[in-house]
Amino acid sequence: MAVVTSIINLKGGVGKTTLTLALAHYLAAEHAKRVLVIDLDPQTNATIALVTERRWRERDQTGQTLFQLFKDQLDGTRTFSAPEAILTRVSNVGGGVPGLDLLPASIRLHRIQDRITKITDLDSFRNGPVYALRESLRDVLPHYDHVLIDCPPNLGVITLNGIAISRYFLIPVVPDILSTLGVPLVLDRMADFALRAQHEIFGLGIVVSRYRSSSRLHKQTVLSMRRDAIPGIHPPIFNTIIAEDVGVAEAADVEGNVSSLREKFGGNAPHRQFSGLADEYLRYVGG
Ligand SMILES: Nc1ncnc2c1ncn2[C@@H]1O[C@H](COP(=O)(O)OP(=O)(O)OP(=O)(O)O)[C@@H](O)[C@H]1O
Ligand SMILES: [Mg+2]
Repeated sequence: MAVVTSIINLKGGVGKTTLTLALAHYLAAEHAKRVLVIDLDPQTNATIALVTERRWRERDQTGQTLFQLFKDQLDGTRTFSAPEAILTRVSNVGGGVPGLDLLPASIRLHRIQDRITKITDLDSFRNGPVYALRESLRDVLPHYDHVLIDCPPNLGVITLNGIAISRYFLIPVVPDILSTLGVPLVLDRMADFALRAQHEIFGLGIVVSRYRSSSRLHKQTVLSMRRDAIPGIHPPIFNTIIAEDVGVAEAADVEGNVSSLREKFGGNAPHRQFSGLADEYLRYVGG
């Protein structure tokens, strides 16, 4: 059965999408894993980094994005089919990475997320819209080794759909005061959801991302995060640290072919880091 992990932080711009994309690429291309990326963010950043905008628009117009799954919840219809919506062999590395698949998001999710919240039982999450994704993926998940869910920076009902199928969550943080302040909040909300929905989910770890070695604040924050981590309460901090690097930002560009992960993710240093991150991830999840 697939190992399902949500990449989450309530803070925006901390590298959630970038880490999701990198982990997915390295697990598929370096470890020959069957990987599904689920883009739950109405910003559709992960989607547009894995397929061209033109291809995404075609799919969106024919109801083959997650917009349709949630619209079905509102309309009481069942037109969405996950197996049909999933795009296979995505990315521009080598013309498409074997084993790397995508369940795409849609910017139209913005329009309906408030209406979905209104029809959700927020006290017990017994059934209904929180489990829409789980239902739609019932026959799909056994075909994958790893599922990585790129979450938006909120814990709305759409995000909770991802949490409800996740065994683990991973928190990327930029090591500055504001970004680390949000970590206890994420832990608290995960524990609360786990209790109310009676669903076990484990904090796999915190990944330091966009690290600047020239910044005293970044250095000190990483030191104190490691020092203050409380085993059993606080998820561990990954040994691998992802540095800020201009080449990484370009990894989101899916136009034009690239020949290797090294080229895609910005050269030697980021390549080493993301490769190390995937190794460490696999050690922790036992995959
Ligand atoms: N290691 C890095 N080095 C340089 N730039 C990075 C790095 N990681 C991410 N970025 C850039 O920082 C910006 C934010 O990253 P990303 O989109 O991954 O964050 P996010 O947490 O998913 O944001 P959001 O909350 O809006 O979804 C992007 O422009 C991305 O390309
Ligand atoms: Mg994002």
